[in-house]
Amino acid sequence: MKILITGGTGYIGSHTILMLLNEGYDVIVIDNFSNSSPKVIERIEFLSQKKVCFHEGDIRDERFLKSVFKEHVITTVIHFASLKSVSESISMPIEYYDNNISGTLTLLKVMNYFGVNNFIFSSSATVYGAPSRIPLDESCDTGDTTNPYGTSKYFLEQILIDTQRANPALNIMLLRYFNPVGAHSSGFIGEDPNGIPNNLFPYITQVAIGRLPRLSIFGDDYPTEDGTGVRDYIHVMDLASGHVAALNRQHVLTGLRCYNLGTGKGYSVKEIVETFQKITGKKIPYIVSARRPGDIAECWSSPELAQKELHWEAKRSLEDMVIDAWNWQNKNPNGYLE
Ligand code: NAD
Ligand code: WQD
Repeated sequence: MKILITGGTGYIGSHTILMLLNEGYDVIVIDNFSNSSPKVIERIEFLSQKKVCFHEGDIRDERFLKSVFKEHVITTVIHFASLKSVSESISMPIEYYDNNISGTLTLLKVMNYFGVNNFIFSSSATVYGAPSRIPLDESCDTGDTTNPYGTSKYFLEQILIDTQRANPALNIMLLRYFNPVGAHSSGFIGEDPNGIPNNLFPYITQVAIGRLPRLSIFGDDYPTEDGTGVRDYIHVMDLASGHVAALNRQHVLTGLRCYNLGTGKGYSVKEIVETFQKITGKKIPYIVSARRPGDIAECWSSPELAQKELHWEAKRSLEDMVIDAWNWQNKNPNGYLE
């Protein structure tokens, strides 16, 4: 039983691979390094004390994919490969739709050609758009997305629903991640964004390490307790264990399934800054600036369905997220660049 992981050297993929290797799974990894470093492989090998079976290539390249599927008997695909920057997607919609949608279509065609029927897809809470109610459960409306990245995930969910309907032998899980943060507790692998981070956690850790002068808090006039945005942050190792749970349960949870992977708790930007300062002893200077276009006031998950059906729940606290995010940044001030 071999598991193909696309986008496996990225942030979430790398943590998931490590956990799968440690649990004894046979893993094949592909990535084109468009948003990750080859060093990730060395570090996973060091941590797991196992060799990573890696193929460099692009999921839009059908010949490349066929060569991988021909070499290995693959039973399940966990599909992380995607471009993921909201701001970049607004200026480069064609590249985003091409990479995310064409890439997934090519992958699905090749899976079909080789008769591979199990698929686990990285979706996102972003498909809910502006929440119709909170906490968000899987029956909430989707599709009111505000940027091409989010729309690509929404379209892909629809494509996967149609594909599964046409071929009931397919088992597809849509995993809607909330806000993944933190790193492996070793500090050997973590999130390494290109350029100035878009997301709150890497921005804060880069301020703390001295790479950025201050944080801008995007708005303190939201209808939330302290006026700043509220999100459901989830430790990346909890997210990784969500994938292991999905893999273990897919033979029972057949057909098309959709699960939120979140903690069910929301924290505001100010709460994150305060917790970070308290735990690390580092001052995070900040200014309050205008709201970021497309941002919503608050969002957190109902993780109940995943608890019930995947037998999974997030275990790590906000303190764990902060400790591990800071440990990674502190040990790797420039990410994977030496
Ligand atoms: P990431 O950018 O760190 O990892 C994605 C990996 O895919 C990268 O290593 C990149 O090089 C690779 N890749 C991209 N296009 C490729 C292609 N055409 N062929 C081969 N490899 C390709 O992102 P991540 O944070 O690890 O996210 C993983 C998945 O989870 C993505 O699908 C993302 O959209 C989704 N997701 C992420 C978040 C988040 O906040 N990090 C939240 C919700 C959903
Ligand atoms: C969190 C909070 C910001 C940065 C994004 C994507 C989403 C998903 C996860 C993939 C918000 C505030 C942020 C900063 C700030 N990705 N903030 N200053 O926007 O919830 O979700 O990543 O699917 O699609 O949209 O996460 O970390 O960017 O923001 O004040 O410099 O922090 O306004 O309230 P977001 P985030």
